[in-house]
Amino acid sequence: MANHDELFKQIIAHAKEYGYIFPSSEIYDGLSAVYDYGQYGVELKNNIKQYWWRAMVQFHENIVGIDSAIFMHPTIWKASGHVDAFNDPLIDNKDSKKRYRADVLIEDYLQKLEEKIEKEVEKAKKKFENFDETLFRKTNPNVLRSQEKIDAVGDRFAALMNETDLAGIKSLIEELEIACPVSGSKNWTDVRQFNLMFSTQMGSVAEGADTIYLRPETAQGIFVNFLNVYKTGRMKIPFGIAQIGKAFRNEIVARQFIFRMREFEQMEMQFFVRPGEELKWFEYWKEERKKWHLSLGISEESYRFHDHEKLAHYANAATDIEFRFPFGFKELEGIHSRTDFDLSQHEKFTGKKLRYFDPETNESYIPYVVETSIGLDRMFLAVLSNAYTEETLPDGSVRVVLKIPAALAPVKAAVLPLVKKDGLPEKAREIMDMLKPKMMCQYDDKDAIGRRYRRQDAIGTPYCITVDNETLVDNTVTIRERDSMQQKRVRIEEIVKELV
Ligand code: GAP
Repeated sequence: MANHDELFKQIIAHAKEYGYIFPSSEIYDGLSAVYDYGQYGVELKNNIKQYWWRAMVQFHENIVGIDSAIFMHPTIWKASGHVDAFNDPLIDNKDSKKRYRADVLIEDYLQKLEEKIEKEVEKAKKKFENFDETLFRKTNPNVLRSQEKIDAVGDRFAALMNETDLAGIKSLIEELEIACPVSGSKNWTDVRQFNLMFSTQMGSVAEGADTIYLRPETAQGIFVNFLNVYKTGRMKIPFGIAQIGKAFRNEIVARQFIFRMREFEQMEMQFFVRPGEELKWFEYWKEERKKWHLSLGISEESYRFHDHEKLAHYANAATDIEFRFPFGFKELEGIHSRTDFDLSQHEKFTGKKLRYFDPETNESYIPYVVETSIGLDRMFLAVLSNAYTEETLPDGSVRVVLKIPAALAPVKAAVLPLVKKDGLPEKAREIMDMLKPKMMCQYDDKDAIGRRYRRQDAIGTPYCITVDNETLVDNTVTIRERDSMQQKRVRIEEIVKELV
């Protein structure tokens, strides 16, 4: 298997070759950090959305969904703190003229130290039988040295970020001798704040028109509709409002494919609870969300929680669900206990009461909120990178297969007549017509059957249904399962039952 960088490149190339993801505006040389989803990509994306929506809305009687507009009143973003504080620290290299996120430069430095430790561990694993990894990590001098450095730099970095100490961040970059990856020079400008919101003008005349923002998160659309949903839905606390939709951030450094984009989608849910009960619900949602991820059959080792030690001023608990992407463990989803910050701010800025009357306690209060927020594109990348597999078969050939969980696969079944004659295509078409209303399927009669199987493997189709001469005699077909490549004979009437 290729190293991690190579593997990631292969996944990106595969995504393009098989119609999953294309660079945006490609024939105009592309647009940085913006991507289009192709014919299979859109299916996978829709299936992830549906899988999330069913788990969050359909399965929870006390959660409802909304779809709020991307454009919102500009004062919302003042109230939420985004106008004043949704910033990233940026730094330029004076020689290469390249712009970086100062915090990402330091995070990359820490990541390299972590990779160094992993390499030591892997080396030792190969060398010693009965290898005790925990003991090795506690005693190996190289590992200990790197770990001490990670802890010391990590603590200092967190404090500087927390205090928004831009000069301190620059000093740390200089002390760690971080060089520009392009020029190799350490000739840096000062660190400056950069607001991530895209703005535009509403109205046809620019002069005097209001500046509005493309929403940087979907959550505020939920908060400003809290009262509407609570009243019209006769909701009783605890209850949640879910939403899936586009968000926009003018990321300084957008990289790692669809991991960090300028236009992306979020699947967010705000859960409104009685004040004082938020930490109980925070734990509940941590567990629920973990179960959701694991229900897809992706291994538990691919996930880890990263609890935030330093919290945003409005949060009293926060954790990230991190996923092991090809470039290491990175945030996939955030779970945040946001207190009553957002609703209080909207009360303050609008003068309107955003309160819940609790018939059990006879009190009116601003509910506390626990939020779950997952990036749809990041989940897509998690599923895709987890699925991408290269296998050497007994005959020495290599097959590339996307082992996408069947519930999410873009095409559930391919219907393949063995040959393009003897009435087999007609029979296969009949089966297509039977399956079409129930699932996304594909008819393919081009090339030899082996090549067609490979094509479906590369797309990630869990089942191939082959129609052969026997089918015409006894009404049975062969169903080939993607991962095991095992085949079994099934009666046509039984196909649907076999596939779901
Ligand atoms: N409402 C809370 C919120 O927006 P966040 O941690 O900034 O929190 C939530 O974003 C999730 O959105 C992240 O965990 C990530 O999956 C996704 N996300 C954030 N920025 C992104 C970007 N530039 N590209 C793709 N996904 C992004």
